[in-house]
Parts: sequence; structure tokens; C-alpha cells
Amino acid sequence: MNINNGIDIDVIKKDFPALQREVHPGVPLVYLDTTATSQKPAAVLDSLNRYYSYHNANVHRGIHTLAEEATAAYENSRKCIASFIGATSEKEVIFLRNTTEAINLVAHAWGRSKLVAGDRVILSEMEHHSNLVPWHILSEALGVEIDVINVDDEGYLDMDHYVNLLNNGPKLVSVTHMSNVLGTVNPIKTISTLAHDAGAIVMVDAAQSVPHMKVDVNEIGADFVAFSAHKMCGPTGIGVLWGRRDILEDIPPFLGGGDMIKRVYLRSFAPNDLPYKFEAGTPAIGEAIGFGEAVRYLDGIGMDKIWDHEQTLVKYAMEKVNQVPGVTIYGPSNSQYRGGVVAFTLDGVHPHDIAQVLDSDGVAVRAGHHCAMPLHEKYSLMATARASFYIYNDVDDVDALVDSLDKVRHMFK
Ligand code: ALA
Repeated sequence: MNINNGIDIDVIKKDFPALQREVHPGVPLVYLDTTATSQKPAAVLDSLNRYYSYHNANVHRGIHTLAEEATAAYENSRKCIASFIGATSEKEVIFLRNTTEAINLVAHAWGRSKLVAGDRVILSEMEHHSNLVPWHILSEALGVEIDVINVDDEGYLDMDHYVNLLNNGPKLVSVTHMSNVLGTVNPIKTISTLAHDAGAIVMVDAAQSVPHMKVDVNEIGADFVAFSAHKMCGPTGIGVLWGRRDILEDIPPFLGGGDMIKRVYLRSFAPNDLPYKFEAGTPAIGEAIGFGEAVRYLDGIGMDKIWDHEQTLVKYAMEKVNQVPGVTIYGPSNSQYRGGVVAFTLDGVHPHDIAQVLDSDGVAVRAGHHCAMPLHEKYSLMATARASFYIYNDVDDVDALVDSLDKVRHMFK
């Protein structure tokens, strides 16, 4: 037995076929790259197989048995996700490809209809490119001004700077709940309250938080929340934008096509009701069903237990990795304010070389700028190596990482 905060990690590991494999002869996989994408449990893989094998049909269009089954499973998955994030109604849950598409939807549907030249949007230095570039595109198209909250040396948002920026009267604040590099968990409820007091609405990139902690969209006080299935045991190609109903009803559709309309005329159209107004074309049906199964799987373990487990693991990892001579870890030193992400550099060794040597020991980490180039530039870094943890990791995995890092150190001495 390998119990950590009430989770039997040995049992969990067995749920994930990929974790049973060797990546080189005799070298088992130690998967420490969940921040890029999580592994998938058999329950999710089986649900995809079941849907494509027996229930494959288009949704909302047919009256035959398979179409009704597919529609029921698709809509059931939406209900399950709505309840998982505490949404008031499943109509506020829009299925899209991923977090990136969700942020683009807000930038284009909300941004282009609500903003004019000179309006201000607040972002932060720790954003993923997906929460920077859509706003850059909007800025180029409309002349919207972008303000950026500073991140301090420890990897926290500078809240005094944020309050100062709010004095400029922004229309929107769009920030990440948890940094995919620093692991910093931002005080999102305070950020939302301050934004609302200043008359701005709030978009939260929750790609790294919803998979790892209990997130209640009403509790955090946001107006839009985006996350992706593939980082939380679900399939790729499916994600969610949650939005407040009144705001979603008030903005135009993003993409046009089938299913997002009530009526189409030769020169105009009438949009469908929520959530279909934002789901143009045949959606990723099997993937949405798999997403629902992933949420059931995580719920079965318990999000509070998952968070506690990762807290224990990241604390242990920071202690151990820090003991490797020449290592620098980025982000808050207090593990209480960070999720299960440890980005680091090793003196004199390029992060890509670190990742390559680690891979020879079966240890999978990501190396690069992690789609956060401005944040890396801020710390004068070209790249970092990043280990990230999930429900299927344990202290043995951290020990494997540290042993392999020692090997890297000796090889490049
Ligand atoms: N956003 C993903 C990462 O941080 C891809 O690796």
C-alpha cells in the first residue's frame, strides 16, 4: 500500500495503462509532465471506445436511437461538468476545443462587441501565450490597450501594482488561476472582487487549477473560466468555457455554422439559445463524453484529497530537488501557495539536455519556455526544465527525478 492523504497511489497508478509501460527496455515510465497533458485512466479510454463502438452518431440532429443515446451522453457530460465546477446552470457550460479556444472566444465575441479603441485590458507577466496572444490580436484590430501586472522575484503577482492598474479603469482583467511554470496559485477571489469594484469583468485561465483543486466558479467570483479536459485525465480536443449567463446571452456568437442557429435566412440568421449559440458545427462528441468520465473519476477520488496529495508531493520535491548542487527552482518557496509544478535550471546544463538525460532514465519532464516566453524573459531565462505532479505520482517518482538529476550533474561536470 502506498497511501498519501487518503489516496492509494499504487491503486491509482494501475488505472493508467501508460504508466504500466517501459519507455526503453527495462526502463519504466516516470511521468512528470502532467502540466503539459495528463495521462488517461482506463475508465476514460473505455468510455471513448464504448461511444465510438456502440453509440456513434451526431448530436442534436437525429431521432434514431444512436443519435438519442449520443445526445443524452453528451448532455449528461455537460451536466456532470457543470456540477463539478459549481455552475448555476449547465447552459453556462460551453464545449470548445480547449482553454485557448475559450479565451479566443471571449476576446473575439465579448471583446469585439464590448471594447473600443483606448479601452484597457489587464493581463499579468505570468500568463501562458494563450492568455496573451488573443488580446494582442484584439489590441491590433481595435486599438485596445494592454496593462500587465508585474510578477515579483518569488513568483507572486504584485497586488499593489494590480490595484494601481485598476485605477486606469480597465474593462476586463484576464489572469491565470495557477501558473504553468511557477506553480503560483493566485488569489483569484481577491482579484475578482477588486476588478468588479473597479467596474471590470474577470476572465480566469483555469487550465492548471481545475484539474488539481476544487474550483467553484461562483465562489471565485469570475465572469468567465476556461479549462481543458486533457490536463485532467480527459481526452485532447475538448475543453470548457464557463461564463455568466447574462454576459453570454448579451454577446454575439464566435463561430458560425450548424447547430448554433435557430433560423437561417439567405442574408441573416437568428442565433440559438445557450450553450449551443457558441457550439458551431459537429462537436467533439466522444471527447466530451470522455471528459464527463474524467470528471467522474476525479470526483471519485475527491478534489480536496487530490490537492492535499499534490501539496505533500510538491513540498517533498522542492526539498529534494533543491539539494541537488547547482539547481535553482523558480516560483514561491512556500509550497502552500503553489501547485504541483517545479520549474528549475541546473548550472551549466541546457534544460533540453536535462530532459534528454532524464528521459534515458524513463523520467518525462518538459523543457523549454512552456508557452510563457515573457515570463522566462523576465527572469532572464531562455528555458527551464519542469517537473509536474498528479494523482498518479508519489515520492518514488520524485526520488527517480532527483537520482537522474544527479546523473545529469555528473555527466556535464
Ligand atoms: N500549457 C501546457 C504546458 O504548460 C502545454 O506545458
